[in-house]
Amino acid sequence: MITDIQKEIDRLKKSTDTCILAHSYMSEDICEAADFCGDSYALAVKAKNVSQSNVIVCGVRFMAETVKMLSPSKRVILANPQAGCPMAEQFNVEEIEKLKRQNAGCAVVAYVNTTAKLKTIADVCVTSSSAVKICSALPQKDILFIPDINLGTYVKNLLPEKNFILVDGGCPAHAKITRADAENAKRAYPQALMLVHPECRPEVTALADYVGSTAGIMQFAEKSNKRQFIIGTENSIVQHLQFRCPDKKFYPLSKDLLCGNMRITTLYDVFDCLNGDGGEEIVMPEELRVRAVRSIEKMIEYGG
Ligand code: 13P
Ligand code: SF4
Repeated sequence: MITDIQKEIDRLKKSTDTCILAHSYMSEDICEAADFCGDSYALAVKAKNVSQSNVIVCGVRFMAETVKMLSPSKRVILANPQAGCPMAEQFNVEEIEKLKRQNAGCAVVAYVNTTAKLKTIADVCVTSSSAVKICSALPQKDILFIPDINLGTYVKNLLPEKNFILVDGGCPAHAKITRADAENAKRAYPQALMLVHPECRPEVTALADYVGSTAGIMQFAEKSNKRQFIIGTENSIVQHLQFRCPDKKFYPLSKDLLCGNMRITTLYDVFDCLNGDGGEEIVMPEELRVRAVRSIEKMIEYGG
């Protein structure tokens, strides 16, 4: 049944000149149907070079907005309009402008999980896989890092030569994981390496054997000669890794590490989009796009 829909999706992609970009948190059946599946940095880079005239984004709203900003001539559709990232909405422009004035001369570094409006006042965007490299390369010593305090703390600890000003935002799914959860998982699977996303709290990343983006975690586990892994990011990654590496064992750090926004998109949503019967076309005023895309272009310039 799923295979039948995937075949139909394949046919419709060709007949409608559509490319499907999926974030690594999407379900296995969506990743199989997609032209590309990766972390938020790789999706942004990919968005610049799409040849098709239509792009369906399976992920959350800021990812579809990023694709639209980088490929304004394309028709960009968010596969499920309800998929948003709560972190992206945690601060408004006025709050960050105020902090910027209080810290004159600082660079404003915005995690890509932000609204287009916030991106207009950022000097550069970062993703979880590029934040350390980009912050390190910035000429400014003072960095106002928004909105994720956990990712910001992780980067700050690796770059003692910089002065970080952090705000109290973050991912509700990753931030609820506690040190006790990590300790319990390590006790339950003493042979396993623990791989976690930098959106987790510092006391959790401190216990990890590897800290990295969704794609980073997957690459680490695939290449490692170890056989057991505790995965400290959205539990979809546990399933992807188990499919890719059937001879290894993957355990969720916590059964609660779930992002409802990432899970809401289904293969049927993709099918409906291709039939012109679902999704939401991303429409952005050109003036906003031009001001917001600068920080994303800078991210790709610094990130390589
Ligand atoms: P990545 O940068 O690892 O793709 O993460 C995006 C995200 O939303 C993680 O929660
Ligand atoms: Fe946003 Fe967290 Fe979901 Fe990622 S996992 S999309 S940061 S809420």
